[in-house]
Amino acid sequence: MFRCGDYFNPMNSKSCRIDSKWGIKVGNFIKYDQINFSLSYFHGMQALTFGGVETIIRQSVPDPRVLEPTDAIVQITLSGICGSDLHVYHGRETGIDHGTVMGHEFVGTIVEAGDGVKKFKKGSRVLSPFTTSCGACFYCRIGLTCRCEKGDLFGWVQSGDGLQGAQAQYVRVPMADTTLISLSNDLSEEKGLLLGDVFSTGFFCAENAGVNEKGTYVVIGCGPVGLMTIVAAKHLGAENLFAIDLSDKRLQVAKEFGAIPVNSLKTDAKTSILNSTNGRGADAVMEVVGSGEALRLAIDLLRPGGTISSVGVHTAENFSFSPGEAYDKNLVYKIGRCPAHYYAEKLLKEEVIQQYPVDKIITHHFALEKGERAYEVFDKKLDDCIKAVLHP
Ligand SMILES: NC(=O)c1ccc[n+]([C@@H]2O[C@H](COP(=O)([O-])OP(=O)(O)OC[C@H]3O[C@@H](n4cnc5c(N)ncnc54)[C@H](O)[C@@H]3O)[C@@H](O)[C@H]2O)c1
Ligand SMILES: [Zn+2]
Ligand SMILES: [Zn+2]
Repeated sequence: MFRCGDYFNPMNSKSCRIDSKWGIKVGNFIKYDQINFSLSYFHGMQALTFGGVETIIRQSVPDPRVLEPTDAIVQITLSGICGSDLHVYHGRETGIDHGTVMGHEFVGTIVEAGDGVKKFKKGSRVLSPFTTSCGACFYCRIGLTCRCEKGDLFGWVQSGDGLQGAQAQYVRVPMADTTLISLSNDLSEEKGLLLGDVFSTGFFCAENAGVNEKGTYVVIGCGPVGLMTIVAAKHLGAENLFAIDLSDKRLQVAKEFGAIPVNSLKTDAKTSILNSTNGRGADAVMEVVGSGEALRLAIDLLRPGGTISSVGVHTAENFSFSPGEAYDKNLVYKIGRCPAHYYAEKLLKEEVIQQYPVDKIITHHFALEKGERAYEVFDKKLDDCIKAVLHP
């Protein structure tokens, strides 16, 4: 630790001097209680931050610190880029502050824990759902952990409030005991990362669709989440399962996971589904894109009395079907954020993720310094990218 009168060298620039017991001199005097902040600023971590539409800025930001006794600091060993990050990246989802550290998928090792953290300690290997949760409120108790009364989404800071993200070297995790999940040595970091978001979301989507062995089902969108939804639907017994996308590469993986691929650029999806259901339509459609166009297709492919299960993040102002159409279809419509803590714990305990080679959807690995390029490759699906991960 620095003492009064010591010098230190911030980022190889000119030395600064701790000038009195109250301050350090860095151009201006800074109060003593800000010294730690100042030091961590100068010795800060690398992170990918939001810099405006289609602008990811790699920069040095302050190291996160324990702010509450129930906080833990996780040193990230792997983080992911999600389709949800793309809504922010393209400016479809707005409100996030410039400078916010992006990302909500990660695994890592605890390097510091507050006094109130009992379940984990320094050195614990952990995975994390994409939201924090308290484990005790009404929503946590009913398993809707994504709507925890005290919860936050990683990588979302708005008007100064919220939680920094995980496309960085370290992340602060509030309510660590009830947010984090232990990652045992027999589960790979890749599977741990997928469990914290896309694998869990796939199961949430398929369960909401009421999938069983009898029906005909459709998954619209074969990105990472859609592919995991296919795995989940197969796990729940779906035999007649169609997968729709515009990318042959993604459809090829959908086929490997057991779905019948339909490229809607080349084939009329509605005709395909109607032909295979005696003209009725699918029993359930799982919408995993997050666009009005995909939602429109979902209702067009659905039989009366069927279910749309939608996990795509929607940013449009209105539904792309009318109340009258919903009425005429006797529509059952389930939509929303996955309670990832609830699903991740369950799918780990029931040894579901252990059974499937889902880590093969991770096609691209980047160093954190190449984060801007990683966004571009994932977004534009360059080089047949399906899922991109970052190594800090
Ligand atoms: N509800 C949740 O908790 C939750 C969790 C994770 C992700 N998401 C959302 O899930 C969605 C998918 O995420 P992802 O990581 O797989 O993203 P992604 O962008 O990689 O995948 C979207 C896929 O949809 C395909 N697509 C686009 N328009 C289509 C159309 N009209 N018809 C058929 N296919 C179409 C694209 O080719 C792509 O393969 C996003 O909206 C994301 O925000 C929601
Ligand atoms: Zn996500
Ligand atoms: Zn809660």
